[in-house]
Amino acid sequence: NLYILILAGGSGTRLWPWSREELPKQFLSLAGEESLFQQTVRRMTKIAQPSNLYIVASDQCSALLRHQMKTVVKFDHDPIIAEPMAKNTCPAIALGLAYLLKSGADPEDLIFVSPSDHIVKDDEAFKEAINSGRQAASEGHIVVFGVKPTRADTGFGYIEIDEERSKGLPYKIVSRFVEKPDEEKAKTYLERGNYLWNGGFFLFKAKRMMEALKSDIPQIGEPASEGYKSLISSFEDLPSISIDYAVMEKEKDVAVVPLDCGWSDIGSWDALYETMEKDEGGNVKKGDVHTIGGKNNLIYANGRLVVGLDVNDLIIADTPDALLVAKRGSSQAVRDVVNYLKDQG
Ligand code: GDD
Ligand code: MG
Repeated sequence: NLYILILAGGSGTRLWPWSREELPKQFLSLAGEESLFQQTVRRMTKIAQPSNLYIVASDQCSALLRHQMKTVVKFDHDPIIAEPMAKNTCPAIALGLAYLLKSGADPEDLIFVSPSDHIVKDDEAFKEAINSGRQAASEGHIVVFGVKPTRADTGFGYIEIDEERSKGLPYKIVSRFVEKPDEEKAKTYLERGNYLWNGGFFLFKAKRMMEALKSDIPQIGEPASEGYKSLISSFEDLPSISIDYAVMEKEKDVAVVPLDCGWSDIGSWDALYETMEKDEGGNVKKGDVHTIGGKNNLIYANGRLVVGLDVNDLIIADTPDALLVAKRGSSQAVRDVVNYLKDQG
């Protein structure tokens, strides 16, 4: 039996002004008509029955979640597992796990954890990768999904493959998992060639993750193993930490399956530009947008008509109450813009 936990509690700031505190990027229609969250739910219904699908998110999101899910799939159960507050992905996964075990999942059942804010272009290839991870997970590994790195990005986890221990196996064994290395290390990993990016998906037996939590991060693992109620009541005091730092960096027998499905985490407007289809002029456009004479821009309109005249290499993201105009290549710094605006009040 396979259960799905979709993590939808993140609050990105790098796609401002489209993303806001109350409207993080998973709920935006950045690529296509549906939001990234809706696309994720749809993708997951191809992997497991809707009755096995759950979403972990903060209480405040639940109205928005229900609204967005309605058009995608009808549930006979309440799929929302509500966190009292955001504590990053380790507590979120622990809560999902404890909830499933309380609701009748067997410790031997498999659980697949998915982010809700990624682009996957080829759902079939994605599904195949998950299926080929099932053997490794059934054999007791925590399974991650590795994407071939194309740049020394410091926003990802890096997975080193142990070729020696992987001999004769249908999957690869991970010798090291390094979450968000500094730039120098990321460059070295890219050059060495035996590293993959962590796609952010995890597959494991319920009991395997519970063991890992208990041994790697007892502050979370202990209350989790006492059950859902105990975890909820201590939630406020749990450390705020991602699963990558709390568990993945510490585990010794992680397996990795290659993921080649047009994956993108779109952490920034630049990343979105890279992954989207361009017109003849290299422009990426959404909404009521026209470009005349300009090349290689990303222009996202939301409500208003936007025209780019003879401008090149710009990011223009419009909303009814805020407009971003940035040079392509600078969009990582949008986070600083948001902090700057907060400081200004
Ligand atoms: N429910 C819940 N609660 N979900 C959360 C929370 C939380 O407190 N925090 C984050 N999430 C959700 C996000 O919405 C996203 O879908 C997913 O969990 C991953 O969280 P991110 O905050 O986006 O993680 P990241 O991008 O910095 O890093 C992870 O993903 C990379 C790939 O994109 C790591 O797993 C990296 O190793 C990986 O390379
Ligand atoms: Mg992310």
